[in-house]
Amino acid sequence: MADDATILLDQALRDLEAAADEPAVEAWRIAVLGRNGSLNALMSRIGAIPTDERRAFGAAANQMKQQMEAAFAERNEALRRASLERETAQAIDVTLPGRPLAIGHYHPTTQIVREISGIFERMGFSVVEGPEVEWDYYNFEALNIPKDHPARDMWDTIWVSPEGPRAEKPMLMRTHTSPMQVRVMEQTEPPIRVIVPGRCYRYEATDATHESMFYQIEGLAVDEGIGLADLKGTLYEFARQMFGEQRKVRFRCDYFPFVEPGVDMSIDCFKCDGKGCRTCKNSGWIEILGAGMVHPEVLRRAGYDPDRYTGFAFGMGPERVAMLRYGIEDIRLFYANDLRFLRQF
Ligand code: DAH
Repeated sequence: MADDATILLDQALRDLEAAADEPAVEAWRIAVLGRNGSLNALMSRIGAIPTDERRAFGAAANQMKQQMEAAFAERNEALRRASLERETAQAIDVTLPGRPLAIGHYHPTTQIVREISGIFERMGFSVVEGPEVEWDYYNFEALNIPKDHPARDMWDTIWVSPEGPRAEKPMLMRTHTSPMQVRVMEQTEPPIRVIVPGRCYRYEATDATHESMFYQIEGLAVDEGIGLADLKGTLYEFARQMFGEQRKVRFRCDYFPFVEPGVDMSIDCFKCDGKGCRTCKNSGWIEILGAGMVHPEVLRRAGYDPDRYTGFAFGMGPERVAMLRYGIEDIRLFYANDLRFLRQF
């Protein structure tokens, strides 16, 4: 009898240990401690026990019951704790430091365009933008560059009209931002002071200084009594703000069909102060833009009376400005989208 009890206890405790989850433990409770459980079945056999052994049997059975109940409670508690641990392992630890967001920044071209625009905006210029797909008329014709004129060779053109320049109304990717001079003049009355940043396109064999897509910033000021001195003063002030207070500027004659006279502007080298270095190719001067007084023919075509109104215009390449400032040696780096390059600015 006592042996039966020990076997029952051992077996029950082993089963309990093997019960892997709460439903299994509950099933164990019913099978062992329940009304029809094995413990009660053992107890009910008390009648078959000799009278003098009953006390001892009862006491042993009671102790066994307590032992099993304690084991049951302990097992239950262990399972509860384990499931709680599983839950908290999945939960968010609000005390952990947050994952830092990768913060980007503006493209170096955008940075320079904004900086240049800002300088002119503070001088009273407004920023306007124009179409990148343009009519031959605005890109060439209205800028005093007639069909078949050799000056067209200055701009290798990507034609959009399938018939190319021979189409009835030829269309192209603008080769410069200058067409916006005409569009702005057609749409507004003087006084005009605008700058036009934007993309331009050329049918170009690319190399370190030529890209088929690049930016230009055009400038235009038209009013009564505007002269070359205004052009020089405005661009000189720009050069000082952009490249340093000490800058000297130099204007030389140049040819662009839509200005007369036409000039190019150089600044004394901001790297070597004009002594001669790699950046200025030992000349002491860096050419940074083309400019001039708006050609009377261009004013007339836009509907302005050139005897009353005069103006100046200029155009520059912001990538070139960035290349000079940061010592970038290949313009193709700007649009190759290599983050190792872009992250440096
Ligand atoms: N559009 C010219 C170019 O792409 C640059 C230029 C020169 C613009 C003189 C001007 C200017 O407005 O006056 O080469």
